[in-house]
Amino acid sequence: MTKKEIKNRIEKLKKEINLHRYNYHVLDQESISEAALDSLKNELFKLEQENPEFITADSPTQRVGGQAVEKFVKSEHFSPMLSLFDAFSEKDMLDWQDRLGRFLSDNKLANFKPDWTYYCEVKLDGLAVNLKYKNALLVEGATRGDGKIGENILSNLKTIDSIPLSLNLPDEKYLKSMNLDSNLILKIIKSGLIEVRGEAIMTKRRLEKINKLYQASGKPLLANTRNAAAGSLRQLDPRLAVERKLKFYAYDLIFYENGKRLNILLSRQNSELLTKILGFKVPENNKLCNNLEEVFKMHQYWAKNKNKLDFNIDGLVVKINELKWWDVLGIVGKAPRYSMAYKFPAEQATTKIKDVVWQVGRTGVLTPTAVLDPVNLGGAIISRSTLHNMDEIERLDIMIGDTVIIERAGDVIPKVISVLKNLRSGSEQKIYTPKKCPICDSKVDKLKEEVAFRCLNSRCYAVNLRQISHFVSKNALDIENLGPKIVEQLLNEGLISDFADLYGLKKEDLLALERFGDKSADNLIKSLEERKKVKMPRFIYSLGIRHVGEESAQALSDLIISSIKDGLNDKNYLKPAEISRAVLSLKREEIEGVDDFGPIVSESIYEFFRDEHNLKIIEKLNNFKLEIVFEKEPKISSENMLLFKKTFLLTGTLSSLTRDMAKAKIKELGAKVLPAVSKKLDFLIVGENPGSKLEKAQELGIKILSEDDFLKMINFYGNK
Ligand code: IVH
Repeated sequence: MTKKEIKNRIEKLKKEINLHRYNYHVLDQESISEAALDSLKNELFKLEQENPEFITADSPTQRVGGQAVEKFVKSEHFSPMLSLFDAFSEKDMLDWQDRLGRFLSDNKLANFKPDWTYYCEVKLDGLAVNLKYKNALLVEGATRGDGKIGENILSNLKTIDSIPLSLNLPDEKYLKSMNLDSNLILKIIKSGLIEVRGEAIMTKRRLEKINKLYQASGKPLLANTRNAAAGSLRQLDPRLAVERKLKFYAYDLIFYENGKRLNILLSRQNSELLTKILGFKVPENNKLCNNLEEVFKMHQYWAKNKNKLDFNIDGLVVKINELKWWDVLGIVGKAPRYSMAYKFPAEQATTKIKDVVWQVGRTGVLTPTAVLDPVNLGGAIISRSTLHNMDEIERLDIMIGDTVIIERAGDVIPKVISVLKNLRSGSEQKIYTPKKCPICDSKVDKLKEEVAFRCLNSRCYAVNLRQISHFVSKNALDIENLGPKIVEQLLNEGLISDFADLYGLKKEDLLALERFGDKSADNLIKSLEERKKVKMPRFIYSLGIRHVGEESAQALSDLIISSIKDGLNDKNYLKPAEISRAVLSLKREEIEGVDDFGPIVSESIYEFFRDEHNLKIIEKLNNFKLEIVFEKEPKISSENMLLFKKTFLLTGTLSSLTRDMAKAKIKELGAKVLPAVSKKLDFLIVGENPGSKLEKAQELGIKILSEDDFLKMINFYGNK
């Protein structure tokens, strides 16, 4: 992108992000998912980092938190409601742990031995709420707002049964058994100030129930549990909140003495226990982990099983359990060092459509596939996504160059769900159905009353499938772990459209398919990687040139090498494109001149390398960096070998030995068999019924050997 284009993109991104933020934070309407918005913010952040001259004070990257709505009375929190840093991978978490260690030693705080454990909590996805209790009574309840000041929504919060209006008093003995300062704690509960923070949520079951009712009465449906919770608490009629039956789960308990925050609960685990005793609900799934290994296990478990819970969670909140560290580590900006939001992989992301390619299915149906700017979605890099058909493209109004939101729900294959049209620059291109089949060039048409366009050549799919299957078969590239069923699956899912595409497969592509597990996906990728180096005759055979079997492939391979012999230097491999170039530069007669080729084989070879589709596939293989290895000339230990570096060619039938035996003998004695008559030929061996080679050799004045001459030359009869 040019600087001007970058500036435009930044402006467009800012506008788009601000629009969705306003909808969400001020109007309580979610016009884009949080994950997709994050994806846009990431793009903006990256562009700004690379081009800092375009950062403006009003950029969404420059602020944190929401904005209070005017209609509610403001409520100031006793201490700020912080936000959390996000981690998306095990590496992020390990880096965090390292950072804390470094922070301690840099600030000479290392006399505190970092011997902490981690308290891991499920990260509920609802509305953050701060409750103030004075003399054990609920006196105020507010949203987070900008972290310092929120909106007092007490009347609405009072409709939530799991928010106690007064606190239970804990048993003194119990507090003592936890090694806590029971006197101070009881004093503050009874006659001091406490804040309890947590998340107000709607359960999934409740959302379903309400939506059924709303549907029956024609009311607009609630989009998701988070919106439902936020929407019902941030409106002025508490009756609506009653109907929504929200729940409140507490995740923080703060004691104040003389307006100062106290740290008297020793551990987060203790703090949670006490919160429960005071009368609050806490998630039963929270757990103490001794180290990050255990945290990772818990994270993996819930990333997989989060759907089993009746509330939505979008990650874990990992907190250092021993509270003494909280003060030592402190806060950076608006987030504490002692805690991390360890998110589950996002299931939505934004990316750009670079191109659209068309897949031909079993029945000839053409399916458009979007080629995407690779993007991380749910932990996997996604670079393709099916667009289903032309109707879908029109319904979503997709153009090449568009920024789109892609989604993966559960294990299904990712799909484009919408286009961010505000981000268009004007250079986007409309998508058309191809007039000709991308595989066989036949006519493409729409059958009556069908949505789909088809390639009208009924053999097209079958031929393509057969070609790919041939490419991977035992005598061709011999790619293990890739049977015909899998080839069919890959083709049907649009992951490949020819055999070269196999090399572009990513593990993540395979994981999205039935029958593929972690191991089988790894194995296939490994097999493909191993077959990037392949012997030339095998490679030529695998191209599936009509009438070219293994023997002809060997002969063509020899012909190619001899035709570019001088340009080879020390190389022992050619790139696929060098092979097609070499064949293209051969004249028809040169191919026909090869001993083993009849006219049909020669014609087929000649045409194959002039077909645009074939050349495109070879070009792709070239881009995947395949190395086509050829045998060097036999290493000769002694230059006294009988026929050192001499060249031979046979025509007609020999009576004493087969052609193959003769060729082997020639090679064994340090000589070479040439594929055709040329000036480079030293001897032409003539058997019974010689072909046109004899005439040609005579024209060039090449020495002609009878079978007997040849046998004598190679000492066939021994030294009698
Ligand atoms: S702790 C400094 N614990 O996640 C501590 N937050 O930015 C700040 N959340 O909107 C919060 N579950 O409402 C904490 N167990 C949990 C949580 C949790 C959900 C929300 C919180 C805030 C966001 C963090």
